[in-house]
Amino acid sequence: HTTLKGKDLLALYALTREEIMDILKVAAELKQKQKEGIPHPLLAGKTLAMIFTKSSTRTRVSFEVAMHQLGGYPLFLSGQELQLGRGETIADTARVLSRYVDGIMIRTYAHSDVEELARYADVPVINGLTDLNHPCQILADFQTIIEHKGRLEGLKLAYVGDGNNVCHSLLNGCAKVGMHISVATPKGYEPNAEIVQKAMADARASGAVVEILEDPCRAVKDADVIYTDVWASMGQEAEYAKRLKIFRPYQVNPDLVKGAKPDYLFMHCLPAHRGEEVAAEVIDGPNSVVFDEAENRLHAQKAVLALTIG
Ligand code: CP
Ligand code: NVA
Repeated sequence: HTTLKGKDLLALYALTREEIMDILKVAAELKQKQKEGIPHPLLAGKTLAMIFTKSSTRTRVSFEVAMHQLGGYPLFLSGQELQLGRGETIADTARVLSRYVDGIMIRTYAHSDVEELARYADVPVINGLTDLNHPCQILADFQTIIEHKGRLEGLKLAYVGDGNNVCHSLLNGCAKVGMHISVATPKGYEPNAEIVQKAMADARASGAVVEILEDPCRAVKDADVIYTDVWASMGQEAEYAKRLKIFRPYQVNPDLVKGAKPDYLFMHCLPAHRGEEVAAEVIDGPNSVVFDEAENRLHAQKAVLALTIG
């Protein structure tokens, strides 16, 4: 195996292609074991602290169940109930938690807060979503694509919608593994320029093509995967009405998907808003693999936990 032991998982651009492929391999093995009912207590006696300052269904439940299935203990900590919510520093929180637990998973707003937590923690820190990225989601997505298409390299993924955290991790992940990625966003909602630069640099090494476009039809042309996400992410609730108007032409609907390969996969990290970023006919249609994606959060994260903390 690669050397993920003791490492943080803050962003996919910080991993090598080999590390990503290793996580995916272990994820598939652990999924198989769980389906066959073979116990795999790789984290017996270990505890994961899970800090949430934003809502979650999938991330919370999948990490909690992951620790349980690995024989360890998950400790849910709401940001509001921690002293962090009353002004204790991130650095002190990191140093104190490191005396009790074997790993920390955090979901919060500023990515710099997670980097600071990781800097002061002596145990691995796993990013469960920040405003900047969502690496665990994309690992589960890659596991799902491999299950349905048998490979990642050489496929084309089209991301249509907001240039947000999920878009960023897709850019960085695809560039690492050699998947072609075409992103279409409205003007002013493009992905972060630094993220795109990192992706372009990695793409040169992997042979991937990274395209940042405005036209959703061009992005989905001959795509193997069409991916979208909400138009207003957590923390952007006040912009919801404005975004609804701006993003209307970016809805993934039966008309738009006609440009993709007939056997394209529809993907969405969920939660979804039918009638907004995606039409019900698409997300509830035969090409949709959104619940496989949701399931694979469990398996991909078990691999991350076993490799970093185990
Ligand atoms: N996809 C995802 O991260 O879902 P939650 O917000 O429910 O955790
Ligand atoms: N972009 C969304 C993803 C939710 C899993 C958000 O940040 O709210």
